[in-house]
Amino acid sequence: MNDSGVEVTALCQFERVQHQRFTVQYDYPVYFTEGLFRSGNGAFCEALSRKEHEKRHRFAVFVDENVAAARPRLLTDIVAYAEHNRQTLELVAPPETVPGGEAVKNDPQLVERLQRRLLTLGIDRHSFVVAIGGGAVLDLIGFVAATTHRGVRHVRVPTTVLAQNDSGVGVKNGVNAFQIKNFVGTFAPPFAVLNDIEFLHALEPRDKIAGMAEAVKVALIRDAEFFAWLEAHSDDLVAFRPQAVAYMIRRCAELHMHQIAHGGDPFESGSARPLDYGHWAAHKLEVLTHNALRHGEAVAIGLALDSRYSVLVGMLAPGNEVRICALLEKLGFALWNPMLDEHDGDGRLAVLAGLRDFREHLGGELTITLLRGIGVGDEVHEMHEGEIRAAIAWLKQRRGPR
Ligand SMILES: NC(=O)c1ccc[n+]([C@@H]2O[C@H](COP(=O)([O-])OP(=O)(O)OC[C@H]3O[C@@H](n4cnc5c(N)ncnc54)[C@H](O)[C@@H]3O)[C@@H](O)[C@H]2O)c1
Ligand SMILES: [Zn+2]
Repeated sequence: MNDSGVEVTALCQFERVQHQRFTVQYDYPVYFTEGLFRSGNGAFCEALSRKEHEKRHRFAVFVDENVAAARPRLLTDIVAYAEHNRQTLELVAPPETVPGGEAVKNDPQLVERLQRRLLTLGIDRHSFVVAIGGGAVLDLIGFVAATTHRGVRHVRVPTTVLAQNDSGVGVKNGVNAFQIKNFVGTFAPPFAVLNDIEFLHALEPRDKIAGMAEAVKVALIRDAEFFAWLEAHSDDLVAFRPQAVAYMIRRCAELHMHQIAHGGDPFESGSARPLDYGHWAAHKLEVLTHNALRHGEAVAIGLALDSRYSVLVGMLAPGNEVRICALLEKLGFALWNPMLDEHDGDGRLAVLAGLRDFREHLGGELTITLLRGIGVGDEVHEMHEGEIRAAIAWLKQRRGPR
């Protein structure tokens, strides 16, 4: 140690290494509420003022345009809520809409336009950028917030099942580039997350279901009991009964948050992406279908594929993949997409490029989560093309007559 407490290692007479080391603690609350912008609901004010009580908090709001369309009074409700709580809140401009859905992550100009907008609005490192929307809008606005002034405070209000139970409660953001999902992005924990179940009622039926794939995913790799619960409550989930939906979201969010906080690698600097079971194929299928498949729909196919693959390589006892596919189909997922069969110009299966993208994203060693049992994920470092082809053929033959 030198005088400043910095560890110094002498290598030889003329060289030395000074080791820099510090720890940063992250914490953020995830609220589960209803009627977020009703005048009596204190969650939003509490979330923004949790670190500084005695001031008015400046904030800008960006809303997924499909959420705004489904909830025509939302923007005026936000303005009224801010006015009602003006001792705590200062809305810097009327809420603004941004396009919804995956396309919003494919437009590099939009990132720059929004960064410029934050400049115009005078958003500084003590102001807040609030994003209300599906996972795609949250990823975009999260990225814009994280890269403006090297990171301004970001509050997420997820409005889809997937965003409430998975993407919105995590630490990642990003946009797509060069035909690769999330190629540009950052790890940036939010300041707070506010899950309001009321938003979900306006979702299209397919979006109500799509996010449930992430619940099946996390149950499969972490929690057999939750998997059994999903099986037992599949009718309630298909009917979108509020109690079952609320539990499914909460348990799924909890499991994701637990992994981030206690998995030992919240910013994924190692070579694993433990929560991304089924995702190497899913990400590629999203691209190959030009986003005709929603993320959750592609994940359901990826789960089915990797379950069968786990059986074929002897990791998972046969029969489990049938049980997994049965649950996914019961929930309403189609487990076949013609793009699984697509070949590139060199005659290679196009979906295999998803493995290459995964390896490159992680930096070198491929690490893929497969299954040893229901509730038991395990990592492997290679996948065999022959068994992948066989798993795809199995999915194709079992889809039955159309
Ligand atoms: N950052 C992460 O850790 C992480 C994790 C998983 C997924 N993701 C990303 O999340 C995205 C998928 O998110 P998603 O499944 O929420 O889809 P989405 O954001 O594409 O939303 C689906 C559709 O629903 C609309 N919508 C959203 N909320 C609505 C509401 N309440 N009422 C009516 N319509 C509404 C959207 O405008 C869109 O058209 C993908 O880009 C995926 O890569 C990110
Ligand atoms: Zn996912």
